[in-house]
Amino acid sequence: MKNFYITTAIYYANGSPHLGHAYEMVLTDVIARFRRLMGDQVYFLTGIDEHGQKVQQSAREKGIEPIELCDEAAVAFKGLCEKLLTSNDDFIRTTEERHKKVVRTLLQKLYDEGQIYEAEYVGYYSTRAEQFLQEKDKVNGEWPEIYGEVTEISEKNYFFKLSEYQDWLIGYLKENEDFIVPRYRLKQVQEFLKEPINDLCISRPKERLEWGIPLPFNENYVTYVWFDALVNYISAVGYGTAEFEANWPADYHVIGKDILVPSHGVYWPIMLKACDIPLPKALLVHGFWLKSGQKMSKSAGEVVDPLDMIDQFGVDSFRYFVTREMNVGQDSEFSSELFFSRYNNDLGNDLGNLLNRTLNMTTRYVDGVVPAIEVEEEIEKELQKSWGETQDEVLRLYEEFQFHQGLEKTFQFIRSINRYAEQRAPWKLAKSEEPKEQSLLKTTLATMAESLRLGATLLAPVMPEVAEKIPQLLGAQTGSASWKQSLEWSTVLTGGKVADKIILFPRPETSG
Ligand code: MSP
Repeated sequence: MKNFYITTAIYYANGSPHLGHAYEMVLTDVIARFRRLMGDQVYFLTGIDEHGQKVQQSAREKGIEPIELCDEAAVAFKGLCEKLLTSNDDFIRTTEERHKKVVRTLLQKLYDEGQIYEAEYVGYYSTRAEQFLQEKDKVNGEWPEIYGEVTEISEKNYFFKLSEYQDWLIGYLKENEDFIVPRYRLKQVQEFLKEPINDLCISRPKERLEWGIPLPFNENYVTYVWFDALVNYISAVGYGTAEFEANWPADYHVIGKDILVPSHGVYWPIMLKACDIPLPKALLVHGFWLKSGQKMSKSAGEVVDPLDMIDQFGVDSFRYFVTREMNVGQDSEFSSELFFSRYNNDLGNDLGNLLNRTLNMTTRYVDGVVPAIEVEEEIEKELQKSWGETQDEVLRLYEEFQFHQGLEKTFQFIRSINRYAEQRAPWKLAKSEEPKEQSLLKTTLATMAESLRLGATLLAPVMPEVAEKIPQLLGAQTGSASWKQSLEWSTVLTGGKVADKIILFPRPETSG
């Protein structure tokens, strides 16, 4: 059976990890974990993008070799994966031999077939953007700031016949509207394809750029960094070997909206088509984390270091926050106020207090042993029914990448457990010796424990630690049940011993 294969973008080795990267990793991990829990065999790839001008330049500025800079980046990004509890199966570095080999194979194949040709290029070049420019890229007769210094150059280069595939791609996108998720992002690619596209310059002369993969047919040139980077998605899963068939085509390439056009939406499908390789099933395009309307990144100055937030509030709180706040595809504003509000209200009050109350009352009133449900009245039946609906709805929302709504529904259910407890008021029932009240008390504690176990279990793709810990604290034995089975209302907790009261989400010292 083919694996569900999902990838993140690969991160530039000259930058440090920031919230944007962390979000993309978490989003991809939530999908990977969800699919695994649903029974799929998953292959999850992330990694770093190590070649190119910027890496060469940054290394020079630091007085070190480019590979040393990349080694540092590998440590930093692998560290981020660990901190975030991402369940990636692989981490690719584009300086690895397994990758360089595939890039050279594809280049040679395209060259032999005449799909890559040599030509004299005369025009403008931006070092900062590592890109050739045309007059039409000027704004009011000036080169925009983002291009930095623009020079006129004339040099021989190698070009890939991108333009020959323009009509094919237009047709493909028309027939495969789900190739880009969410669908409204498809328009951006279609818009780009309305103008004739140029062939793609895939080489850089060595005198200008040394840090890259040499062209197999002319060692005086290295490969353009995007042509190199995109290939990671197939080189990592062993293009050319039997292993490849087990993973390819990828199910989703998860990317940010800035790298859809032209790299992932135009270059990549055309490169694959030209090489006779099937296309990935879809690109999942997410939006940006913004701070006061600006994209968050290291160069923009103020950056919230995700690693610090994780150390302070725990990885699950961070994962919850970014998944709960972001509507996949759109942008979201980051603020620490919002973070504290989610942390204190949803996690601290709704979930954390419910756990505490349940542990506390079970310990005080029934010697810490989860009782059996003895009577089921309307109110219990309603809670059970609402669980059934919640579960169906949340799984459906997760299938559609509507994680923020799925979490909202899950927390609505958690809040309804709190309301149930208020209505039953076990602290009052406990005061009575009457058999009816005693029976209701046991029923209430059992119902609270079971519904909390279910709500926590449903959080597993987003909050893996909490989803494991809460059932354990409620005395559940780790069994061999599948996730789907453990989402069924059951009596697994009955007779188990609960743990002592514990604060899962301690109040921050300074909030806000
Ligand atoms: N190296 C290229 C990608 C090559 S993929 C074959 C690159 N690297 S990057 O480090 O600049 O960005 C990596 C990913 O992080 C991209 O998908 C990008 O959209 C995402 N993010 C960077 N800043 C972001 C935010 N502020 N918010 C959300 N994601 C953003 O591009």
